[in-house]
Amino acid sequence: MNLEKQSVSVFAPATVSNVGPGFDVLGFAIDEMGDIITLSTTDDNEYTIESLGAELPMQPEENVATVALKSFCDTIGYKGGFHIVIEKNFKPGSGLGSSASSAVGAVFAANQLLGSGYSKEALIVFALDGEFLASNNRHADNIAPCMLGDFVVVKGCDPFDGFKIQSPDDLKVLIIFPDVPIKTAEARAMLPQQISMKDGIEQVANMAALINGLYVSDYEMIKNSLHDRFAQPYRKQLIPFYDDVEKLVTSAGAYGFNISGSGPTMFAFFKEEDDLGALKLSILKVYERKTIKVRFHESSINKRGVEVI
Ligand code: HSE
Repeated sequence: MNLEKQSVSVFAPATVSNVGPGFDVLGFAIDEMGDIITLSTTDDNEYTIESLGAELPMQPEENVATVALKSFCDTIGYKGGFHIVIEKNFKPGSGLGSSASSAVGAVFAANQLLGSGYSKEALIVFALDGEFLASNNRHADNIAPCMLGDFVVVKGCDPFDGFKIQSPDDLKVLIIFPDVPIKTAEARAMLPQQISMKDGIEQVANMAALINGLYVSDYEMIKNSLHDRFAQPYRKQLIPFYDDVEKLVTSAGAYGFNISGSGPTMFAFFKEEDDLGALKLSILKVYERKTIKVRFHESSINKRGVEVI
């Protein structure tokens, strides 16, 4: 195989999945937060990992990035080695698709480096093999927006079937991250296996309204549909002060609030011009009661997805 380059660096954005009613089928990408992955070919056939900014598994078969990379290379028949540098600027296990960013970054970088010519959509299935290692489940609601950018609806995973949704240009997201550990696999295991007809109907109606609200930039519709009957009622008990934070963001005029992925991160929608300084101070005060650290990230929606930097 003729290598196009020896080394490539890519940025793979952090993502918010579920987004209220879209459990396992909806997610969006965040600006200015994510993984920087630098992938280099080596002279042997080993995979070596270097991690900056977080403690990650160093064994290739235990690291989501190298598992995804191997799945891609096995399919295209590339048997060479790689050195991968994973630079994280957000904490793994925070509910912002950390494993998805690493898996997507790795396969996208390999596709660039090896000149394999796969489309972003076709790469999703390989990144899912990494996600499976992290959560014991093949859901693409972090992987797909990380790959494609903007909001993405996932209809199927193997092969990927889904589509991007246009969202308002002045939509801003506030990410609220209390520093408590939650494992995705455990947060999935606590969910019921059956839902009631009533909850199912409500969820479908909210999902349809949310998609329309995003398309036509109807902020009231976005706000009124950002509710979840499948996961949030069970998982919110894992997040200290969830109800207090919801009250604060609602009084500050948020256009919807919910759990990001399996938590503990929460997100709230605002408009670009909204000043969130006072809100952040009040949330900090709430968490001071139990000396829990809380961090924030304010950003627009990342509309591009993973890209070479
Ligand atoms: N949809 C997934 C969940 C996202 O809520 O379990 C977390 O990876």
